[in-house]
Amino acid sequence: MSATATTTIRVRPLGAVIGADIEGVDLAALDDDGFARIARAWADHLVLRFRGQKLTDVDLMQFSRRLGALDRVPIRAAGVVMAADPRLAIAPEAAEFVSVISNVKIDGKAIGGLGNYESHWHTDMSYNDIPPMASALYGIEVPPTGGNTSFASMYAAYDALDSETGARIDGLTCIHDASRNSVGELRRGFAEIADPQQTVGARHPLVRTHPVTGRKCLFLGRRRSAYIPELPLAESEALLDMLWAEATRPEFCWTQVWQPGDLMLWDNRCALHRRDDFDDRHQRIMHRTQICGDRPY
Ligand code: SIN
Repeated sequence: MSATATTTIRVRPLGAVIGADIEGVDLAALDDDGFARIARAWADHLVLRFRGQKLTDVDLMQFSRRLGALDRVPIRAAGVVMAADPRLAIAPEAAEFVSVISNVKIDGKAIGGLGNYESHWHTDMSYNDIPPMASALYGIEVPPTGGNTSFASMYAAYDALDSETGARIDGLTCIHDASRNSVGELRRGFAEIADPQQTVGARHPLVRTHPVTGRKCLFLGRRRSAYIPELPLAESEALLDMLWAEATRPEFCWTQVWQPGDLMLWDNRCALHRRDDFDDRHQRIMHRTQICGDRPY
């Protein structure tokens, strides 16, 4: 297949402050000019959707790698890689970097993460000192309804704060809870956190500067068990509740309703996301990569 020419690429904004469709592009055959155009659109729109893609795991890995080094998949059941159904299998040459998000079970064993549950607003793996800059999620099979993924612009949320709140939070930090995943499951090796002052996870600035755009944005991670260590607990809770309510106002959000062949690319540095639950009688199969980031400042 010939490389996608930059001239064929169209950028169509979706939400008021977040999200754009990138049309006229085959991500499996992208040239350098095309990639540069996409990178500019990504900086402007934070979340990009590429519809009608036909990607192998290697294509997904190679496209993702254009943005930076890839995070390794931490743990995987060998059965997933070996699954006979190609929709369920990860290509062995991509197994180190492509993970599965799915509710499908084989012989009672989940082939991927997150099941059919709702995932709460979060930034991927912000409980690490160096969280991933981006995630790419490719829809292979999607349920007829539900399982939509919403995104919120943390630039818009920060810009909308009154000047007093802006001044108050500049210089504050937040501890991002590592104990639970985005659907609320306790991770192996972690204990229940009853007091947010005991939260275990990375400490990041509440307001970070995007290394590419230079813009400031809220960097909240996830609400549960978060703690602002510069404040007494009650003040930390009240401030976080207020910031979360602001950050997820509908006018800062846009929702992706999935079709098979959709590739979503989102910027974890300046966007939150969440997912609706869906009927477990339907299969949802997504393959995903994460691109390494840098320390928030
Ligand atoms: C997530 O919440 O990270 C997963 C998004 C999705 O499954 O749509």
